[in-house]
Amino acid sequence: MSDLPKVLLLGAGGFIGANLTERLLAEGRHRVTAVDIDGEKLEGQLGHAHLSFHRQDIRDRDGSLEELVRDHDLVVDLVAMANPSLYVTNPLDVFHLNFTENLRIVEHCVQHSKRIVQFSTCEVYGRTVAGVLGEDPAERPCPFHEDSSPLIMGPVRNHRWIYASAKQLLERVLHAYGLEDRLDYTIVRPFNFIGPRIDYLPSEKSGNPRVFSHFMNALLYGTPMKLVDGGRSYRAYTHIDDAVEAIVRIVDNPGGVCRREIFNIGTPENETSIRGLAHLMRELFDEHFRCPGDPVPEIVEVSGEEFYGRGYEDCDRRIPDVSKARDLLGWGSRHDLRSVVLETMRYFVDRHRRRAES
Ligand code: NAD
Ligand code: UGA
Repeated sequence: MSDLPKVLLLGAGGFIGANLTERLLAEGRHRVTAVDIDGEKLEGQLGHAHLSFHRQDIRDRDGSLEELVRDHDLVVDLVAMANPSLYVTNPLDVFHLNFTENLRIVEHCVQHSKRIVQFSTCEVYGRTVAGVLGEDPAERPCPFHEDSSPLIMGPVRNHRWIYASAKQLLERVLHAYGLEDRLDYTIVRPFNFIGPRIDYLPSEKSGNPRVFSHFMNALLYGTPMKLVDGGRSYRAYTHIDDAVEAIVRIVDNPGGVCRREIFNIGTPENETSIRGLAHLMRELFDEHFRCPGDPVPEIVEVSGEEFYGRGYEDCDRRIPDVSKARDLLGWGSRHDLRSVVLETMRYFVDRHRRRAES
């Protein structure tokens, strides 16, 4: 076991991290050190012989983070504040964690010559050209490509964009270290992964999670499904299992093809408006989960400012060009939108009913 490559997963207790940890341990080709302030989603993995879990804040200044980087073969950095509500309510916290603290991780990797897989976001693409020109983005599909698309953020007064800007600047720092041949990195731009263990239901704990959790909560409790600004934005959803498959191929980095590359990981075919997502989820709930007497949630509209607060602006449309992941990694998604949504709903319904019975 001691000759297995050692992977350091920072933020391993999150949605992507927990699913990636489970997959790496199942494959048995790596020893995994999982670091997170919250280990709840890693339950069931903690006893694994190849896993070492550190309940630790990467902001600790006790030198332990640098030691961990020094003692591992690969660093996968997933740590971030990744819920849009926080970009509006806590912009400085988002900047400090997503840029300043993540930069420290990068610099430890430079110092100790360690490869890093850095999680960025599809939000770095910002808004579509069509949207900026005042055209209907639905009329002009314009897939985002890693190495050619412009990155178009909204005005500074819309501080939602501090998340994407922090992620974008970190990408540019990685690139600059690469130009000096001082760092081997791969950047991942996830496009709306969903699946078991995503976020939490708003009824379970305070906060404002991502849209799937809000709509799932509404279906379980009969409260309104709220469409921000009419639900006219578009997203393309990818099953977490398909996403983890791509990430494992990036970790493996066959022939070094991932060296200093950026990869979109997404499923353009699984695009829907948010309004369409709400109706799809309500239809699937009626078809597969609703019991007689269960309340039926209504679908209502709210403004972005009402739902998130002042400073919110939306990404109008995100279509990933995934030709690079296909050509360099031989990767492609295998789940269509209905199966991605239905399987994730089933996870939350089963968990909700188990808890109701206990
Ligand atoms: P997540 O919020 O579920 O996971 C982030 C993890 O980081 C959490 O477990 C959290 O506890 C941990 N963390 C936060 N601050 C920490 C600290 N100071 N010390 C240690 N751990 C800390 O998010 P996710 O969806 O798993 O996303 C993982 C990464 O991928 C993030 O960088 C996010 O920006 C990016 N991303 C995710 C998606 C997606 O579809 N899920 C899309 C775009 C980008
Ligand atoms: C989020 C986060 O920014 C990151 O995790 C990541 O960059 C991105 O997901 C991703 O997963 O790729 P976003 O998709 O905007 O970005 O986050 P959601 O909260 O899921 O919102 C999606 C859309 O649903 C937005 O248009 C939002 O306004 C809308 N929404 C959200 C509703 O209409 N109703 C709700 O109850 C919640």
